[in-house]
Amino acid sequence: MLKLATEVWDGKECRIEWSYKTCIEYFFCGGMERFLTREEKIRELESLSPPSRKKKIQELESLKKKKITGFSNTAVLIKKNYLNMNEKLRLLDIGSCYNPFSKFSEFSCIAIDLTPATEDVLQCDFLDLKVQKNTDKENTSEVNFSEESFDIIVMSLVLEYLPASEQRAVFCFKAWQLLKQYGLCIIITPDSKSVHHNAPMIKSWKAAFEKIGFKRVKYDKLTHLQCMAFAKVSRFSEKDITTCKSLADLLYIRQDFKSFAEDVSSTDDRSEEENHNICEQFLELPNESLF
Ligand SMILES: C[S@@+](CC[C@H](N)C(=O)[O-])C[C@H]1O[C@@H](n2cnc3c(N)ncnc32)[C@H](O)[C@@H]1O
Repeated sequence: MLKLATEVWDGKECRIEWSYKTCIEYFFCGGMERFLTREEKIRELESLSPPSRKKKIQELESLKKKKITGFSNTAVLIKKNYLNMNEKLRLLDIGSCYNPFSKFSEFSCIAIDLTPATEDVLQCDFLDLKVQKNTDKENTSEVNFSEESFDIIVMSLVLEYLPASEQRAVFCFKAWQLLKQYGLCIIITPDSKSVHHNAPMIKSWKAAFEKIGFKRVKYDKLTHLQCMAFAKVSRFSEKDITTCKSLADLLYIRQDFKSFAEDVSSTDDRSEEENHNICEQFLELPNESLF
């Protein structure tokens, strides 16, 4: 898995670089303030009658043209209260494999995985992890998995790795519980098709995250990846971890609807590049010498 993650998938670790740059921009270069100001404007526009909304949009466009677009006072205040600049950002990497974020000095990383590839990754099944309530005083463990205790949560090439959509829902809900309000959840999922091909699935994932209490801050389609960053906006979710069914329906992947027989027989819709990638992945198997 370590070799696949560092050499085969997306060789230059561009998913790690994308995640790093997104976090730095959000926490240190005005991204959080920009996002909060935008959210405030959206709320204001939604509260107006259609004619007033039209007028307000014209005003905002005119300010934008004149490049008069500061942050709102509320956004600046929230950010000021959020960050203690002397502290590192607490990052939880779920399904980390090899703790790739530990190389960045801005982060204090906790990396967990079912089957860790390196010693600095904790062995942990995230499905079984108990999120501690802030009111639980008995938490004396070094590793703190209390609610609202992380600034950043990363799930890179992980959600689609889980066989059941209910498990994906549990991962996303727990990530929301563990994040501080206005913290960032980074989701990376593989996709070598064109941007439109999996657009309905990405839209559906976005809807699931919004139902939990996130808002999307950034989205990019790279050559082989879908990259998304969500901010935790709401501290109270209308959802409950025991009733994740409606979330699970939204967090689907294409394979959920394919039978094994279909999967092995239909190679026609694979591109040359995908066939090549599959061949390369087989060459990485431990029994490579048998072929
Ligand atoms: C495809 S790898 C991704 C590794 C890394 N995040 C990256 O971007 O290269 C998926 C990882 O998720 C881990 N994983 C799967 N189910 C898990 C679970 N229930 N709890 C924790 N980790 C899990 C696997 O062991 C595997 O290392």
